[in-house]
Amino acid sequence: MLILAASTQRTIGLVLAAIAISGFILYWVFNWFQGRAETGSEVELAVNRKPYHSDEVLETKKLDSSLFAGLFCLVVIGIALPLYWMGEPGRHEGLVEENDEVAVHRGEELYEERCASCHGTVSGPGGSVPYTLTDDNGLFLGNLNWKAPSLATVLYRYSTDEVEYVLNYGRPNTPMPAWGAPGGGPFTTQEIDEVIAYLAHEQVADIDEVRQRVDDGLVATVRQRLTAADPSLDPDALEVAVASRLESIKADPTEYGELLFNNEGDNGVYGCARCHTPGWSYDADDVRSREGNMLISPEEPGGGGFGPNLSETIRQFDTAQDHETFVNLGSQNGVAYGNFGQGDGGGQMPAFGLCVADRDAGERDFITRDAFCDNRGGEGVLTNEQVAAIVAYEREVLAGEN
Ligand code: HEC
Ligand code: HEC
Repeated sequence: MLILAASTQRTIGLVLAAIAISGFILYWVFNWFQGRAETGSEVELAVNRKPYHSDEVLETKKLDSSLFAGLFCLVVIGIALPLYWMGEPGRHEGLVEENDEVAVHRGEELYEERCASCHGTVSGPGGSVPYTLTDDNGLFLGNLNWKAPSLATVLYRYSTDEVEYVLNYGRPNTPMPAWGAPGGGPFTTQEIDEVIAYLAHEQVADIDEVRQRVDDGLVATVRQRLTAADPSLDPDALEVAVASRLESIKADPTEYGELLFNNEGDNGVYGCARCHTPGWSYDADDVRSREGNMLISPEEPGGGGFGPNLSETIRQFDTAQDHETFVNLGSQNGVAYGNFGQGDGGGQMPAFGLCVADRDAGERDFITRDAFCDNRGGEGVLTNEQVAAIVAYEREVLAGEN
C-alpha cells in the first residue's frame, strides 16, 4: 500500500517535470527563431539624436504651423469659453427648476403620507378628524369630528413663513400636530420646505376661482340654514329660497358680514368663526343637541377660540378703516397692531384682503410680494366690500354682545 502510494506520487511528479522541461525547450526554440538581428546602434536609434529640420524649414513652415496652432488655441479660449459661460445662467436656471420639481414631487409624497388623511387633497374642500375633546385638566368632554381646513388657498392668506410656523408647531388644542423639529415633530427643515413647495404648486390658480369658492361657501351656508329651519323644502323650492335669501342678506352690510363671518365654505377658511367662535370647528351646538352632552360649551359667536374674543375689539381700532386694514393684512409675528394688540404665535390671524408673501419684515405696511402673489394681482380671498361688511358686523353686533 505504502509503496504503491509512493510510486503514484513519483509518477505524477515525473510527468509534471517532463511537461515543464519540454515546455521550456519549446519556448527556447521558438525564441531562437523569432529573435531579430541587432538593427543599429543606440546613437542612431535614440529619438533625441535624430537630425532635425534645417534652419530654413524651422524659420518658415515650422514657425508658421506653430503660430497657427497658438492662434487656434486662442480662438478656442476667446470664443468657446464665453459661449459656454453665456449658457451657464440658463443651465443654472434649468437646474433650479429641476430642483423645484424634485422638491414638489417629494412634497407630494410627504403630503399623501402625512397630511391627506386629515386635509384631503390640497385643492379639495378640507377634511374631518375624529377627536376626543378634554378640558384643561384632561377630563373627557366628548367625542367629535374636528373640521380640517382646506389648504387650496392657504398661501393667499398666509406668507410662506407663517405656514412654516404652523407646520413647525402645529395648532395647540386642535388635532393639527407639530411636524417640524422646533415643535418636536418628525420632519426636517428640508421636508417642511418640500411640503410647502407642494402646497404652493397646488394652490387655486386664479383669484376669480377663489372668489367663486367664497361665494359657493356662502350659498352652502344659507342652504344649510334654510334646510335646518324647514327640512321639508323640495330641492327646487330650496334653491329658489336660497337665491332670494342671499340677495336680501347681501343688501344689508351687517347681515352680509354675519354670513361672511360664519362662511362654511372649504371648512371655514374664508370666514372668521373657525378661530373666533369657540366650538365652531366641531359644531359644538350640534354635538350638544345630538348627544345631550352638556359638558361641551355652546358656540358663542366671536367669543374667542384660537383667536381672541372680539367683543372688546372696538377698543382696539378707533375707526372702521383701521379695523378693515387689520383684517386685510392680518397679524405679523411679534408686531404690535391697533391700540394694544400684539401679534404672536407666528402671525396666525390670516390676511383676508391681500395676498401677502412676507409680512415678517417689521413695519406693518412693509409687505414684499413674491411671484405667487403678483401673478394673482396681489388680491386676497375677500373683496374690500366683503371685509367692510364683516367689520360692520363686528363693530355693530359682536361689540355689543358678550
Ligand atoms: C390629525 C389630523 C391632521 C394632520 C395629520 C394634519 N393636519 Fe393640518 N390641520 C388639522 C386641523 C384640524 C387644522 C385646523 C386647526 C384649527 O382648527 O385651527 C389644521 C390646520 C392646518 C393649517 C393651517 C391652515 C389654516 O388656514 O388655518 C395648515 C397650513 C396645515 N394644517 C397643514 C398641514 C400639513 C402640511 C400637514 C401634513 C404635514 C398637516 N396639516 C397634517 C389637522 C391635521
Ligand atoms: C386661523 C385663525 C383665524 C381666523 C380664520 C381669523 N382670525 Fe382673527 N385673529 C386670529 C388670531 C390668532 C388673532 C390674534 C393676533 C395674533 O395673535 O396674531 C386674531 C385677531 C383678530 C382681531 C383683533 C382682535 C383684538 O382684539 O386684538 C380681529 C379684529 C380679527 N382677528 C378679525 C378677524 C376677522 C374679521 C376674521 C375673518 C375674516 C378673522 N379674524 C379670522 C386668528 C384668526
